[in-house]
Amino acid sequence: MRRVILIVMFGLLATNASANFGESKVCQKCHPVIYDEFYDSSHRKSSIYTDPIHKAVWDKHPLKEKEKYSCAKCHTPADIELLKKLEAGESALPQQNNAQLEEGVSCVSCHTIERIEEHAKANKNIFTDKEKTLFSAREGKEGEHDVAFERKSSFFGMVTEKSGSPYHKIDFSNSDFYDGKMCMGCHSHKENAHQFAVCETDAKHDSKDEKNCISCHMPLVKGAMNTVHETPTHRYHGFTGVADKPKMLGEYVTLDLSRNDSGFIVNVKNESNHPLFLHPLRLAQLQVSVIRDGKEHDLVSVSFSKVIGKDGKATMPWLADSIIKDTQIQAKESRAVSFTYLLKHADVVEAKMGFYRVSPKAATGLGLTDKGYSSFTILKKERFQIEK
Ligand code: HEC
Ligand code: HEC
Ligand code: HEC
Ligand code: HEC
Ligand code: HEC
Repeated sequence: MRRVILIVMFGLLATNASANFGESKVCQKCHPVIYDEFYDSSHRKSSIYTDPIHKAVWDKHPLKEKEKYSCAKCHTPADIELLKKLEAGESALPQQNNAQLEEGVSCVSCHTIERIEEHAKANKNIFTDKEKTLFSAREGKEGEHDVAFERKSSFFGMVTEKSGSPYHKIDFSNSDFYDGKMCMGCHSHKENAHQFAVCETDAKHDSKDEKNCISCHMPLVKGAMNTVHETPTHRYHGFTGVADKPKMLGEYVTLDLSRNDSGFIVNVKNESNHPLFLHPLRLAQLQVSVIRDGKEHDLVSVSFSKVIGKDGKATMPWLADSIIKDTQIQAKESRAVSFTYLLKHADVVEAKMGFYRVSPKAATGLGLTDKGYSSFTILKKERFQIEK
């Protein structure tokens, strides 16, 4: 009898613990450096309460009227209650709860993705049903799963060595956490009601590529990955991108200058395996100026964008059925931009490749007046000294 009661009690404790298991705040205790980076990231700030750009588009979206916040699948997968309502076909609008305010795409939303199911409309994340098990990648441990906390004593108990985590199990055997495929449940593509892909990462994978989504967007940076093992580095969880540390991605964009009879050419090379900018709201721009005799002459800026719409006109994403124009610099492409301006000895050419997070036109339409969204951010800057 006693044994039965004990088992039941233990069972209750276990389910309670796993109900709280999801919260990112809990991870902070042992992974403080990673948590701080995550806290400032667009993955944390992905709900209508934490991302004003997302809110501005949602406020105009026809699904708002229908009370179906289907954006949740990717923007707030931590809001399990809302996802359940969506699935049941009930009214599902975001409420000011912990998931919406504190952790749109939470630590657990990512670290429990077991595999990606491919679909035409949008891919789907399939989460593990193994209790308290998190996926991760580590060189040399690729074959290990269900790694649990262990304390080993040696030298007659004088030295104890700890391994694993006291809070969760780790599964190192999921290849999607090594090659970056785990990103593709949310980042691959999204179709609207007209079977038109409003955004897609369309990444070209080449087996010779050393770089993938993880190595480029989560570079190794200083600081321990947890408080127990003082590792010198960890993977950056701020996710370099449009919103955070774009300059860190500057190393994957190169700018070169060459001259011809009518002036000069600036070559912009995109080293990444996807178009340089992905979201239709972005406007990329190359700004070039020549400094001659101490005076700066701005030349015409050249813009690159992907415009989606209908009947040849730009529209909101849910109305679009075609690409109106696409001048974005594609994966691995080198784009030559010509300038008719004859250079001479001692000139200095300054080239800046950058972007507007929200193109100024769209910003006006969406009422996004915050300068941070509609001002020019530099991704890469280069100066060329002209010798003769
Ligand atoms: C009580 C402390 C503790 C808590 C709480 C904790 N972890 Fe850990 N975690 C660890 C330790 C210690 C390790 C390292 C194990 C090792 O090196 O063998 C680890 C390892 C990991 C790894 C694998 C890293 C790798 O590649 O070796 C991931 C991923 C991870 N934790 C995520 C999380 C998430 C997400 C949460 C919150 C849901 C969390 N942890 C909560 C202590 C903790
Ligand atoms: C299939 C996954 C998915 C769904 C569903 C989804 N999004 Fe997104 N959304 C993303 C991803 C991934 C990004 C980041 C892409 C990037 O920056 O290129 C993003 C970015 C955005 C941005 C730009 C945010 C910024 O700060 O610049 C807006 C606006 C946006 N989404 C609106 C919506 C709205 C509104 C819905 C629901 C009607 C929605 N999304 C549904 C995956 C999704
Ligand atoms: C070789 C490095 C490299 C690889 C590999 C790479 N990226 Fe990028 N990524 C970049 C650069 C460079 C930019 C443009 C600079 C910026 O957004 O600040 C970028 C931009 C982005 C953006 C922001 C685009 C926007 O318009 O908001 C997202 C989201 C993104 N990448 C996701 C991914 C995903 C997912 C993968 C894996 C399929 C991936 N990247 C692979 C270098 C890389
Ligand atoms: C957008 C998805 C995503 C989110 C959100 C996320 N992680 Fe990660 N995390 C990854 C990927 C991908 C890696 C690299 C592969 C690996 O080691 O698992 C990683 C690596 C790690 C590692 C190993 C670090 C290292 O240096 O190798 C730890 C520990 C970790 N994450 C903990 C966390 C914690 C804690 C949070 C929340 C505060 C979090 N992660 C949020 C995707 C994510
Ligand atoms: C559960 C869904 C999900 C997963 C998994 C995910 N992301 Fe995201 N990601 C998003 C959403 C949604 C946004 C946009 C949030 C916003 O700005 O509103 C985003 C934004 C980003 C951005 C920032 C773009 C910008 O505007 O600056 C980068 C970079 C990025 N993701 C890279 C990755 C990489 C690399 C992985 C895999 C390691 C990954 N993401 C996994 C949903 C996801």
